[in-house]
Amino acid sequence: MNALEIMNANKTFGGLAVLQDVSLSVEVGERRAIIGPNGAGKTTLFNVISGTLPLNSGKISLFGKRSEHLSPYRRARAGLARTFQQNNLFFNLTLLENIHLAILPHLTQSSPQKFLETWGWWEKRDIHVKELSYGDQRQVELLLALAQFPRLLLLDEPTAGMSSVETQKITSMIRNLSREITVLIIEHDMEVVFDLADRITVLNYGQVLFEGSQEEVRSDQRVKEVYLGTTD
Ligand SMILES: Nc1ncnc2c1ncn2[C@@H]1O[C@H](COP(=O)(O)OP(=O)(O)O)[C@@H](O)[C@H]1O
Ligand SMILES: [Mg+2]
Repeated sequence: MNALEIMNANKTFGGLAVLQDVSLSVEVGERRAIIGPNGAGKTTLFNVISGTLPLNSGKISLFGKRSEHLSPYRRARAGLARTFQQNNLFFNLTLLENIHLAILPHLTQSSPQKFLETWGWWEKRDIHVKELSYGDQRQVELLLALAQFPRLLLLDEPTAGMSSVETQKITSMIRNLSREITVLIIEHDMEVVFDLADRITVLNYGQVLFEGSQEEVRSDQRVKEVYLGTTD
């Protein structure tokens, strides 16, 4: 059984085909990077996986269960959590209050205090999220997703706009996640991609241009031309 299976997914906006016949299988425990130029359809892919956008056609299975007709809420119940390209936090609440809201349906698995202690954030519990640095806010966003105890985690450009120190922090956080969590990560920083990903899928104009291991991606001529921008 795969964590995620997408079969022949199509999504259009008006006349624009944003996802064209996309098929994708991600194994349980895998770290899969989704790369591709701006506008390739990467965020749209996450939106159709999480159910915030309906597909025009195609099938999606989460942990072996057909899910393309399920609401975002039902998909979250099936173990799906995500972070967004922009921060998606309650800025006027404290860190503890934010975690409390996320963890509420999962209190059998942890408590806000235990969770924040585990991740080394308990000391900062009373800080209002708006007072945190941008880099810390992006980490808290990841924490909020983890507080839902997901089985499948979708991360949309988690290092965007971060300094190299902040990028290293969030990268090691992701690297150290339990393999019980399957991770899909949209990422532009190829160092982060090659650090984290088991396999890489390249999207281009809404189509899967290439999928393979790191070595295969590094040596594929089409990927070099379209994405890495070199022809050597
Ligand atoms: N809600 C929407 N309505 C209309 N067009 C959209 C919408 N969301 C995305 N698009 C368009 O779909 C294409 C893919 O966007 P997106 O999935 O955000 O790409 P990426 O995340 O790879 O940069 C772009 O041309 C974008 O303008
Ligand atoms: Mg995007």
